[in-house]
Order: sequence, then structure tokens, then C-alpha cells
Amino acid sequence: MTYQDIYAAWKSDPEAFWMQAAGEIDWFRAPTKALFDDRAPFYEWFSDGLVNACWNAVDRHVEAGRGEQLAIIHDSPITHSYRGITYRELQARVASLAGALRARGVEKGDRVIIYMPMVPEALEAMLACSRLGAIHSVVFGGFAAPELAVRIDDCAPRAIIAASCGLEPGRVVHYKPLLDAAIDAAAHKPDFCVIFQREQEVAKLIEGRDFAWHTFQYGVEPAECVPVEGNHPHYVLYTSGTTGQPKGVVRHTGGHLVALNWSMKNIYGIDAGEVFWAASDVGWVVGHSYICYGPLLRGATTIVFEGKPVGTPDPGIFGRIIQNHRVKTFFTAPTAIRAVKREDPDCEYIRDYSLKSLKAVFLAGERADPDTVQWVEGHLKVPVIDHWWQTETGWPIAANPFGIETLPVKHGSPSVPMPGYDVQVLDEAGHPLPRGTLGAVAIRLPLPPGTLPTLWNADERFRRAYLTTFPGYYETGDAGMLDEDGYLYIMARTDDVINVAGHRLSTGAMEEVLSAHPAVAECAVIGVADSLKGQTPLGLLVLKKGMEDQAGQVRKDVVRLVRERIGPVAAFKEAIVVDRLPKTRSGKILRATMVRIAGGEDFKMPATIEDPAVLDEIRQALQAVGHPQP
Ligand code: COA
Ligand code: AMP
Repeated sequence: MTYQDIYAAWKSDPEAFWMQAAGEIDWFRAPTKALFDDRAPFYEWFSDGLVNACWNAVDRHVEAGRGEQLAIIHDSPITHSYRGITYRELQARVASLAGALRARGVEKGDRVIIYMPMVPEALEAMLACSRLGAIHSVVFGGFAAPELAVRIDDCAPRAIIAASCGLEPGRVVHYKPLLDAAIDAAAHKPDFCVIFQREQEVAKLIEGRDFAWHTFQYGVEPAECVPVEGNHPHYVLYTSGTTGQPKGVVRHTGGHLVALNWSMKNIYGIDAGEVFWAASDVGWVVGHSYICYGPLLRGATTIVFEGKPVGTPDPGIFGRIIQNHRVKTFFTAPTAIRAVKREDPDCEYIRDYSLKSLKAVFLAGERADPDTVQWVEGHLKVPVIDHWWQTETGWPIAANPFGIETLPVKHGSPSVPMPGYDVQVLDEAGHPLPRGTLGAVAIRLPLPPGTLPTLWNADERFRRAYLTTFPGYYETGDAGMLDEDGYLYIMARTDDVINVAGHRLSTGAMEEVLSAHPAVAECAVIGVADSLKGQTPLGLLVLKKGMEDQAGQVRKDVVRLVRERIGPVAAFKEAIVVDRLPKTRSGKILRATMVRIAGGEDFKMPATIEDPAVLDEIRQALQAVGHPQP
């Protein structure tokens, strides 16, 4: 079957297509149908089935005779350590942790926050929640305490599972003080915390509230898998929106398992027993879908990598991991490749390794620029596949379906829509645009299994954020076009979300921090083009009258404040002071125009601009700090 056949089969009978895909998942009670549209536009999938994610990711492989195969490989160049965990060991470890959580009162439907670095215990914590039908919410370790507090208050967890520390090159990330500060700041208090003590740092536990990962499990009964409905929330993952309040993307269990399993085989070309490596973090959607659940559902081996593309210890690390663990499919972000290319332009470090196991490289998280794609193709001689998706969708919207067939690659395009996604490019009035014309990229409803049915406790926000601009469609927030062959091109965001080193960040959230500074009258944060990270945030500050001589101090203060309130991941390192900001006559700040000026791009003078002269002032101020980059 070709991609065309499979896409057409889905289009002509989506119900049959997804019921067939559901047949590859173990159900305690099989669903009677795929789509449940009685609450449209809140569509659900496989709602009347009974299923358990942990059973499908772990136990069933042990039953099928894969118990001795490695499920997880932890490779940590930061701690110079390596560890393998078989499916049988994983089953025992997860059942034990789940039993201990249950003994402390965690039940189906309870939320559990997980705040952990790239250690296998993070996956075990996710799987233990899944085993009980508890809803996990993993928080990325690069977020600061106030961001963790916002998530605690939004999802009201019964428990928090954290590690004592994370390890960044040259720096220990002290998780425990961040956790304590977040719990202090939050209105909701968890019943208890479980702390995984790492040998690099033993955290001080709070008597009665905190339990150590190991002792907590002594003497408990291991827990069995609890059947949950197909539409039971599997997890909540917060992602950046336009405001400081992150969006809690909900993932339902049944559709999640069906879609991930389908994608592992048909997109990434992975079968049971093969090795898949996504070099991301469990705190992001890539970590949920393709470090934890996807590979394990398939009975493959997943790699938990605690390191960076460069500096741990050198730009050959990707080669070493691929060779030593016989990785078949490798997934990373273009920014990681750019980091390697910058330090090792001729790929000398990687040349030392045998990469014969490697069959494809997948790139996502940001637009894959053709230079980066060509550089990898030239050096690794395997298909390099850009693919496009979002936290909201949980699995690729558009890709080159390597597991079915490798279509001709068009540089700059993440290729074609996957079954389930009817992708349209719309004008402002919501009419489909002719091929080759740039517009808003939208997906006709219903979205396929595995995508978000709503936002956590925020149906109305879900409707407003995604469904109202183009009735009958899901608004992706990306702009792009389809070409005459049906290939998609994703060019930019249509909102104020920026993408820094493959991390999705809210400029609105950073502006909230800047404007809280007592000397700041007005501010804007924009994503300026960056040759390594794609974009980096830059603050523009207008100071209150009489504060002008404080400019140097205020610039330093806001950099520190963003790090303290949002976290190091915001990578907010630069703010400049300007006399005024460019605005429309109705007072809207012209952020997109400033982004173009900072990137040295042409732009059309906005018809509604209040005073065009401001743009020259902004250009000069940006030039003074090196924008556009040469
Ligand atoms: N916990 C705590 N801090 C973290 C962190 C984590 N899990 N991840 C990143 N940070 C910190 C970094 O240490 C850095 O701190 P610093 O300001 O003290 O140096 C800051 O957040 C910014 O990190 P980052 O933007 O990642 O920059 P970097 O210079 O450390 O690394 C790259 C640059 C390109 C090597 C790195 O960003 C990378 O590997 N990116 C790939 C991203 C990716 O896989 N994304 C997933 C989508 S597929
Ligand atoms: P996240 O939710 O963090 O996965 O970020 C999703 C956003 O990242 C998308 O809406 C895009 O703006 C951007 N993105 C992800 N992958 C790609 C890609 N392959 N090409 C272009 N943009 C991408």
C-alpha cells in the first residue's frame, strides 16, 4: 500500500480506518465504535472501550515473551553512566511504585505532577500513574518555581513525584528547593511528595510530606493495571499560549494509544525489538509520545538520553549513542543539528562511529531549514525527514511516512498530511486558499484520535483558542501553504508564541514579568532570528518618567526576573530600553513588524501605524545590540 492508498482509505471511511488501527491495542473491553461526536465540537474517540496504557506499554510485552528485551536504555554522558532496564524489570518497578502510590491514596482520576530530569524513573513515574488510571502532568525541569506553582494550582495534584536534582552541563539544577517554593506559593497543597534521591545530590525531606522513592515502596503490594474508559484522561501537559497562563492540553487514553502505535509503525518505521531514540525531554510532548509511550507501546527499546548535542563531551555524542545502541530511527530538533554543525562542520567526530543501524533521522519542534537538512543528508546518507506537529496534536500532522514509503523529499517542507488530518490553508474569512498561497493552516474537524479533546478544566478556553476563528476547523496557530503536490510548508506562527531552541515559549508570559518591574512603563517581547536557536527572546522596555538613568540596572533586573519566574529555559538574556514602542492607532503594539526589522527582512508599513518614525528608532536600537545578525 502506498501513502496515497492509505490516506484515501482513511478519507473514504475514517471509522473503519481507526477501528482497524485500534485492533493493535489490547482492550479490556473493545470499543464498539471509533468516533463519539455527541458532544461535538468536543470530539472523543473509543470512549466505550476499556483499556490501560501501562498494560499496553509494558505488561503485554512481558506476556508476549519480550520480558528479557531492553525496554529502556539510560545513557547519561553527563554522569558517565549507562543502565538498561528490561521489560520484565520495568513491569516490576512500575507495579511497585504504583502500589506505593495507591497505598497513599492515589486513585483513578487523581492528578500527579512529575518534575524530573532525564532518568528512567521519570518514565516509571508516568507509567505508574497510567497503571492506576491517575492523570500525570509532567513539568519540564527548566521551568522555575512560579511556573510549577501555576500548574499545581491548575491541576490540583494529589501527589508530586520529583527528583532531588537535574544535571545541566557544569551546573546542578536543585529541584527540591524549587519544588518546596512552588508548593509554598500554590494555593493547592498535594497530600504528599515522592523524592527520587540522586547520588549527585541528596535533598532534605520534609517530615510527613515527603517520602524517599525507595523506602516509600517497602512492603507494598504491587498494583495491577486498572481498566479505564477510552476517553479517560491519560495526562495533562501544559504548553505556552499567548498569555502567562499555560494551556493544559488533555490527552485521552484510547485514542492516544491507537494513534501512537499507528505512528510508530507507519511514520517512524519501528517494529517490536528495534531501537528508537528521541533526543528530547520527558517534559515536552516529544518526550511523552516518543520517549515514553510510543516506543514502549510498540515493544521497541527507547533511549533516555541525559546530555546535550554538544559539550557532553563533544559533538560526536549522537554518533556514539546511535552506534552503541544500534538506533534505527533517530528524532531530534533542527537546533540540535545546528549546534553540532557549528562545532563540527565536517562531521569529524561522528566519522569515528559506525552508523549502519541508522535508517532515518526525523526533525521537528521548529522549521527545518534546508541547509540543516542537507547537511545531515550529506553526512549521514539516510532520509532526513522534517515533520510537523504540536503539543496539542500529540503526533505528527504532516510527515514523510517512512514506515509506509519514503516520498520524494522537498527541502523546507514537512511533506504531506497524515491520515486523520484534513489540512487546509485558509484566508482570514476561513475560505480555503488556492495552492501556493500563504494563509492560516487549519485542520478540518474532527481531529483524529490522540489529539486534544479539550483543555484541562477549560472547555470554553479550548473553544475560544482553537475553534472560533474558523468554524468547523481547528486553528493550528501556524501560517503556511500547500503546494501543487499537496506538500505543506509551515512558515511562522500567527500568534505571539515563539520557538527558542525547539522550545515553545510565550512572549506574553515574559511581558507579564517585565511589566511587573516598578521602573517599566511599557514593554514588548519579540522572538528575534538566531542562527543557532531559531529564535531568541528580546525585551523592549519603555521606562517610567524619571527612571531613565536606571536603564542599565533595569535591563539586568528583567533578565534575572524572567529566569527566576519562568526559568532558564526561557533563555531571556537581552532587553533594550527604547523611548517608545511602535503601535497602531488603536494602541496595538506592532510586534510582528519589529520581528521583521530585527531579522533584517523587508516589511510592509502597517497601514494603521500611529507614527512610522518609531520604526526607525527601533531599527537603530536593535542595530546597536547586533540585530539583524550578520
Ligand atoms: N533543566 C534545567 N535547566 C535546563 C533544562 C532542564 N531540563 N534544559 C535547559 N535548561 C537550561 C540550560 O541549562 C540553559 O541554562 P543557562 O542559561 O544557565 O545556560 C537554559 O535552560 C537554556 O537552554 P537551551 O535553550 O537548551 O540552551 P543551551 O545553550 O543549553 O543548549 C542546544 C542549546 C541547541 C544545544 C539545546 O537547546 C538543544 O539541545 N536543543 C534541542 C531541543 C529539543 O530537543 N527540543 C525538543 C523538541 S523536539
Ligand atoms: P510544540 O507544541 O512545543 O511541539 O510546538 C509546536 C509548534 O512548533 C508548531 O505549532 C510550530 O509552530 C512549531 N513546529 C514544530 N515542528 C515544526 C516543523 N517541522 N516545521 C515548522 N514548525 C514546526
